Amino acid sequence: MAVGNMRTPRRDFLKAAAAGAGLAAAASVLPTRLATAQPAKLRVGLMLPYTGTYAQLGVAITNGLKLVIQERGGRLGGREIEFYTVDDESNPAKAPENANKLVQRDKVDVLIGTVHSGVAMGMAKVARETGVLTIIPNAGADALTGALCAPNVFRTSFSNWQPTYPIGKVMVERGHRTAAYITWKYAAGEESLAAFREGFTKAGGKVLKELFVPFPNVEFQALLTEIASIRPDAVACFFAGGGAAKFLTDYAAAGLRDKIPLYGSGFLTDGVLEAVSGVAQGIETTLHYGDGLETPRNQQFRLAYAKAFKQQPDVYAVQGYDTGLLLAAGLEAVKGDVGSMQGVIKAMESARIDSPRGPFTMSRAHNPVMDIYLRKVVGKENRVTGIAHKALADPGRGCKLA
Ligand code: PHB
Repeated sequence: MAVGNMRTPRRDFLKAAAAGAGLAAAASVLPTRLATAQPAKLRVGLMLPYTGTYAQLGVAITNGLKLVIQERGGRLGGREIEFYTVDDESNPAKAPENANKLVQRDKVDVLIGTVHSGVAMGMAKVARETGVLTIIPNAGADALTGALCAPNVFRTSFSNWQPTYPIGKVMVERGHRTAAYITWKYAAGEESLAAFREGFTKAGGKVLKELFVPFPNVEFQALLTEIASIRPDAVACFFAGGGAAKFLTDYAAAGLRDKIPLYGSGFLTDGVLEAVSGVAQGIETTLHYGDGLETPRNQQFRLAYAKAFKQQPDVYAVQGYDTGLLLAAGLEAVKGDVGSMQGVIKAMESARIDSPRGPFTMSRAHNPVMDIYLRKVVGKENRVTGIAHKALADPGRGCKLA
């Protein structure tokens, strides 16, 4: 369609120009872009947080995605890319409106978003209703690749269950029998807590107390006082971005760091060590990535990212990069023709993504099946010390995809 539309004005333009000024002159004014009947640019919608506690996560995801495109000479599946962007502010109330801006107003071919689980739920509703090809580069809400899974919706990050489930067993192995869990009161915190409770209890531990702060508040003092009085063997948590940096700082300032060891999913220490590594030394976490993964693939990625953006990549940058790799796999299979949705989906479902985190494949529900690493903060690095769970697949409960 787009190519056909471009041909008619081009012919008219040629005729008029030839009549008025002669063919040689026409050739000199004809834009070269039109001269070779290029396919229309691929319209990519980015719905991500660029302000608030998750702002850095949105930027890292965007950078990772752009690196893939840059490595492919500015194209995916032979098509140049045009970006349309909204700052979703990690605000669930605005999610449907923001998603519709991209899908209905900007008519994007692909929707990429977002970070916050609650926002992603609103976005995914629009994705399901419109059928637009959608890739989630972070938000972990379990239902997105569970009961609410859809043929056109893929996730390159994790379900909230995946990075947290394995930490409980590690804590019991370290001799901790009791724990308190602290997090934000919204889907990602609640689902991480459920995953923690499942893993910790199964390994023989007991959760003494669950503590919540509203998202995105970072007033932790009262709850830290409560933790000190409960005296669990250890504390586990889900925090990320600016909130994680603040929690690490406050935990140390409250004098708890040397008394009650702190654990969590690796979001706690990812992307924050440049700022707060001093208060994070020795903290062990589980995650599907670690800065210090000593594979040629990861080292090549880290060098390229640092060169392009003058900063170190983190797990969010990797997820953005892998979103680009997955999209490239889908588009290359249909030579850039996103109208061939079945072909795109089939290629994405069967892709083996050569990620900096290690290769991964898609589950039946369109969620990564991947290794979860055990990491430890050493200096400014999340050093990988082992594999906490090999090839962990989310159960995808309630997903009806074939
Ligand atoms: C989420 O809301 O799903 C979420 C946000 C930030 C993270 C992980 C999960 O680092």
